Amino acid sequence: MPARLAILASGRGSNLQAILDAIAAGRLDARIVGVFSDRPDAQALQRVPEPLRWSRTPKACGGREAFDAVLADAVAACEPDWIVCVGYMRILGDAFVQRFTGRILNIHPALLPNHKGLHTHQRALEAGDAEHGASVHFVNAELDAGAVIAQAQVPVHPGDDADTLAARVLAVEHPLMVKVLQLAAAGRLAERNGQATLDGQALFTPLSLESMAT
Ligand code: GRF
Repeated sequence: MPARLAILASGRGSNLQAILDAIAAGRLDARIVGVFSDRPDAQALQRVPEPLRWSRTPKACGGREAFDAVLADAVAACEPDWIVCVGYMRILGDAFVQRFTGRILNIHPALLPNHKGLHTHQRALEAGDAEHGASVHFVNAELDAGAVIAQAQVPVHPGDDADTLAARVLAVEHPLMVKVLQLAAAGRLAERNGQATLDGQALFTPLSLESMAT
């Protein structure tokens, strides 16, 4: 049975497109059961057929908590195996995280625990980092602090600005997200006591693109 994926996205949706392409190519045994957005104009929504699109604004729902509750019900109605945040720009509230605990993944454009939050590329440049990259992690109640599953590194080049660096990171985000979802879809990935596990073994070091190559 293909894994059922609910996607949360606020913007462009290039990571969602990478997932859709992997499914279409037979490289990912999964099915998108819904794309959920806090922004009705998100380009990500346009990447799936109309019946799979869901969007509301927090304002229209009467605030952040109410929005989270409506979102959680809509997501639950799709019976997802995994909830995948790809460029979802809101913090998921405690109630949402509790309801789907151990089943929510997020891709973050930095090598966690470095540069949690926003503007990661600019901050990597300002810190003088020689390496930057992306992380896929389980979502818990604290921002960008859940167990890291996998990371991909890129070099920072002299003369980089936030845009050139973002583009280099994005190029590794797509395969990283797909590789992690392959493991998730195969039932090999779990979270236990706040720790990511692969085949039941704790992951003390995040997986890399190379280690997931086979
Ligand atoms: C990605 O860099 C992701 O890591 C970050 O937001 C960006 C979303 O890109 N959280 P896209 O919408 O998938 O193109």
